Amino acid sequence: MNLKDLFGNALLDYQNGNYSEDIMTSTSISDDDVLPLPYLFRGFKDMPKLEQKALKLAKGSVLDVGCGAGNHSLYLQEKGLKVKAIDVSKGAIDVAKQRGVLHAEVKNIIDETGTFDTILLLMNGTGIFQELAQVSKYLTHLKRLLKPKGQILIDSSDIKYMYEDEDGGFWQNINANYYGELDYFLSYKGENEYPMKWLYLDYNTLLTACTSVGLQCELIFEGEHFDYLARLG
Ligand SMILES: C[S@@+](CC[C@H](N)C(=O)[O-])C[C@H]1O[C@@H](n2cnc3c(N)ncnc32)[C@H](O)[C@@H]1O
Repeated sequence: MNLKDLFGNALLDYQNGNYSEDIMTSTSISDDDVLPLPYLFRGFKDMPKLEQKALKLAKGSVLDVGCGAGNHSLYLQEKGLKVKAIDVSKGAIDVAKQRGVLHAEVKNIIDETGTFDTILLLMNGTGIFQELAQVSKYLTHLKRLLKPKGQILIDSSDIKYMYEDEDGGFWQNINANYYGELDYFLSYKGENEYPMKWLYLDYNTLLTACTSVGLQCELIFEGEHFDYLARLG
C-alpha cells in the first residue's frame, strides 16, 4: 500500500500535544470536509451508539482492524479482553502503543494469520475492502480468521442519499460502478496523501456478498444517517 502516512502524522501530532489543524478530506462525489483530530481520540461516551453497541457485543480474543489511535482497543483492553490492534499506518500504531494498547502491530489485514473470537472493523469498516470486486476476497479472508462461533462486527452506510438531487431524483450514472465505490482524498498541513479507494456498502449488498462466501449476516443496529452495524459469522 502506497502511503505517505499523513493520517499517522496527524495522530502523532495530536498525541504529542502539537494539535494545530485538522485533517481535510474529500471524495469523488463530495467537496472538502473536516475530519477533526479530537474525534480520532474519542472515549466510549463520545462514540456513536453504533460503536458503543459493537463494543458491548465484543467478547473473547479481539482483533481491531484499522485501529487508528486505538480507541476501541483501549476500551476493550480496560474491560479485560485480550486485544490485538492492527493498522497499515505506522503513525497510528505508534500512537496506539503510546496510549497503552499492549498488542499493536503495523499490518495489513490481508497479511493477518491469527484467529479471533471477535473481529472489529469500525468507522466504515467496509472501506478497507476498497471496491465491490474485492469484497468476497476480504470476507473469505476474515472468515478464515474466526475461531469457532466467532463474529465479525462491521459498520458501513448506504450512501445513496449522496446522489439525491433537490427534486428527490438520483443523478448517478447507471453505467458507472457500484455507487458506494469512492475515491478518497486526504490532506494534512497542506500536503496531499496518495488517493485511496474507499467502499461504502449498503446492507443488502453486504448480505448478498456474505451469503456467497458462506457467512451469516445479521443487521444489529441502524444509526440515524443510513449507517448500520452488522454481525457476520
Ligand atoms: C477511518 S480510519 C478508522 C480508525 C479507527 N478504527 C477509529 O474508529 O478511530 C481507518 C483505518 O484503517 C486503516 N486501514 C486501511 N486499510 C487497512 C488495511 N488493509 N489493513 C489494516 N488497516 C487498514 C487506516 O490506516 C486507518 O487508520
